[in-house]
Amino acid sequence: MQYGDYQLEIYGAGLKGVLPRWPVDFAGLESAAAAALPDWILNYVAGGAGDERTQRGNAEAFGWWGIVPRMMAGAYERDLTTSICGIDLPTPLFCCPIGVIGLCSQDFHGDLAVARACARTGVPMVMSTLSQDPLEDVAAALGDTPGFFQLYTPRDRDVAVSLIQRAEKAGFRGLVVTLDTWVTGWRPRDLNTANFPQLRGHCLANYFSDPAFRSLLDAPPEEDLRGAVGMWAGQFGNSVGWDDLAWMREATDMPILLKGISHPDDARRAIDLGVDGLYCSNHGGRQANGGLPALETLPDVVAAAGDVPVLFDSGVRSGADVAKALALGASAVGLGRPYAYALALGGEDGVVHHLRSVLAETDLIMAVDGYPTLADLRAEGTIRRLPHQVQ
Ligand SMILES: Cc1cc2nc3c(=O)[nH]c(=O)nc-3n(C[C@H](O)[C@H](O)[C@H](O)COP(=O)(O)O)c2cc1C
Repeated sequence: MQYGDYQLEIYGAGLKGVLPRWPVDFAGLESAAAAALPDWILNYVAGGAGDERTQRGNAEAFGWWGIVPRMMAGAYERDLTTSICGIDLPTPLFCCPIGVIGLCSQDFHGDLAVARACARTGVPMVMSTLSQDPLEDVAAALGDTPGFFQLYTPRDRDVAVSLIQRAEKAGFRGLVVTLDTWVTGWRPRDLNTANFPQLRGHCLANYFSDPAFRSLLDAPPEEDLRGAVGMWAGQFGNSVGWDDLAWMREATDMPILLKGISHPDDARRAIDLGVDGLYCSNHGGRQANGGLPALETLPDVVAAAGDVPVLFDSGVRSGADVAKALALGASAVGLGRPYAYALALGGEDGVVHHLRSVLAETDLIMAVDGYPTLADLRAEGTIRRLPHQVQ
């Protein structure tokens, strides 16, 4: 079975009068989710930093590139499997860490719904530190599908090590350390509504279930939520430095990937310090407005990375975007907001539908354009910048 066959399922069901329950495209998902989500969640998910120009640029930048079709290339069967840091991945697509994904499903257990959807599709999940359910439960829901744990590094070293070691013990295969969010970016949609879900006690299950975190509290979160949230807020703003990589390495045998790397010098320095993987992203334009579209920073990071894998996200909205990021050298490509919208609309089944749709489009593009494997897609000359975008 090829991922592209999902379209045959859809057309086949149509012959029996059954239409897809949710849109297959991002624009359809986005507008339907806007009607389904309460404002405070919608604004938090859809919004970004400043006037959101960088956020829009992330998606627009995909239009500046085009894949060169090849014919008679024998792409009748496609192989989308890949491997990063020695971990075999069934797909080059993954779900990005989304700190409020727990709130995007109607039962407020979205982390588990996404994990189950990933288990059903084989799409790896990067789980956020900020979740409604503890990481052990999310790991269990993932089954054999590879999961990565994303760390917002707490200030207290014991809490940080505890979270890392819990993740390893729970079966997560890699540690993704996010570097660009030790302070929250200026987000007008949230500021205008004074809305910050974590400060209301949401998505803090990993902290509240953590023995090292709890030992810092005067009273447990069940008795004093305000005090526990205050402790969380004090723990959050840790600007990780290069020196921190040493103790992180000591704390775990999991491969360490750094999220937010956009400059080739940072890529080289990370690799010199023994980091296992890079994750090129500008946090979907939620952190610093005025920055380059993330896709624009990808080729330099890939060039600096050499053999070290580079994950990518920010602005990915379709299978065509996935194919382009892969062609530009990404080892795996992350979906963010789109799967949050799919979750809001259809829960676990909605996410499965969305992931299958994106995989199907990626697969069919590889078929039509004559690139049967990811190595073929990544070869020299498969993608070009549109003439009016060449500087
Ligand atoms: C609502 C929301 C919450 C996010 N929370 C996290 C998080 O907890 N940790 C993290 O590393 N990145 C987080 N991100 C960033 C995503 O991992 C990813 O970089 C971003 O969504 C990509 O941009 P896109 O969704 O526009 O494609 C979040 C993004 C959104 C939209």
